[in-house]
Amino acid sequence: MKRLSIVCFLLLSVTYSFAQKTKVKKVIKDAEVQTRLMLQQIPSAKEKQDQVSPRTLENGKLKLVSSRDWTSGFFPGVLWFLYEYTQDQQWKKEAEQYTALIEREKTNAGTHDMGFKIYCSFGNAYRLTNDQKYKDVIVESARTLSKRFNPKVGLIKSWDGRKEWKYPVIIDNMMNLELLFAATRFTGDSSFYKIAVSHAKTTMKNHFRPDNSSYHVLDYDTTTGNVVAKHTHQGYAHESAWARGQAWGLYGFTMCYRETKDTAFLHQAERIAEYILSQPNLPADLIPYWDYNAPDLQTQPRDVSAASITASALYELSTYGKPNKKYKAVADKILSNLTNNYRSPLGENKGFILLHSTGHKPANSEIDVPISYADYYYLEALLRSKTMK
Ligand code: GLY
Repeated sequence: MKRLSIVCFLLLSVTYSFAQKTKVKKVIKDAEVQTRLMLQQIPSAKEKQDQVSPRTLENGKLKLVSSRDWTSGFFPGVLWFLYEYTQDQQWKKEAEQYTALIEREKTNAGTHDMGFKIYCSFGNAYRLTNDQKYKDVIVESARTLSKRFNPKVGLIKSWDGRKEWKYPVIIDNMMNLELLFAATRFTGDSSFYKIAVSHAKTTMKNHFRPDNSSYHVLDYDTTTGNVVAKHTHQGYAHESAWARGQAWGLYGFTMCYRETKDTAFLHQAERIAEYILSQPNLPADLIPYWDYNAPDLQTQPRDVSAASITASALYELSTYGKPNKKYKAVADKILSNLTNNYRSPLGENKGFILLHSTGHKPANSEIDVPISYADYYYLEALLRSKTMK
């Protein structure tokens, strides 16, 4: 009897994993169709010469951004993921070309978004090709980003020139640390690692509420290093939980645990996961509204990008700490719901893969639209799902 149930269990697992692999294959095929369409659309969508990367749809038109924009690295990243899965040299060629178009960002010290831009493009390029030229760009970008670190505050400054804040640091900034960890691995120079750890520890200390949700923007006094304001920019209210912010925190602390093996980061990631998954306002399909605390939630737009980021982070988190099948099961469910109910019909939406993301609701910008970073983290989650046991 015992032997029979083991055989049944093994058969079920094999069947499940075969079904999952077949599904990933089909979804990637569809993503290839969409991305070929996007490549066709780009030339006619270009209004200025410096517009190099698709970001979203605006009034149904494809919106391209310059390399300066924080989202410029995601489309090159999508191309690298397609190459990774298919090994098709055509995808590699496109990925190389679109990656090269944003190289100039390596010296742009005016933003904290270096990791988003350079690690999602050049980081994947190096991971998949081992080409030294990509490594050099990553290291130079890390040097540039390090200039935004103030040791008194212990953090990298997020934005310059904002009237309401002197030294703003946003939860999203956790995502830029991956580039710094990589630069220390590549060079042996521990200064990048130390900045990343300091940023993560200070964020862990100050950015979270007692219920483990996070603020979006904290403002610091650079003479004392003290927090002077706890605000939001893209969320519903200063005290609300902006959905994508929670996802950035989850992904960021999971990655910090991978890079440092400091269990404080692992526990922070687990606490964020528990916060997200225990929200009574999280819809049954696990695709959150844009803010967990917005009023009249049923009438509010979803944020598919927050769901994609969360799924990808949970796959990684499920491999750390005590064996925890729950995180993988939740990631599977998010991925399956995104795949079945939130994808663009083939041949539509100028080639974006997912619909229904929300960029910046309070500014009335990018509401219920496709966005490049939703597609990027969705493909990353799909590739991660393949390697899960
Ligand atoms: N990092 C900006 C955003 O998540 O919208």
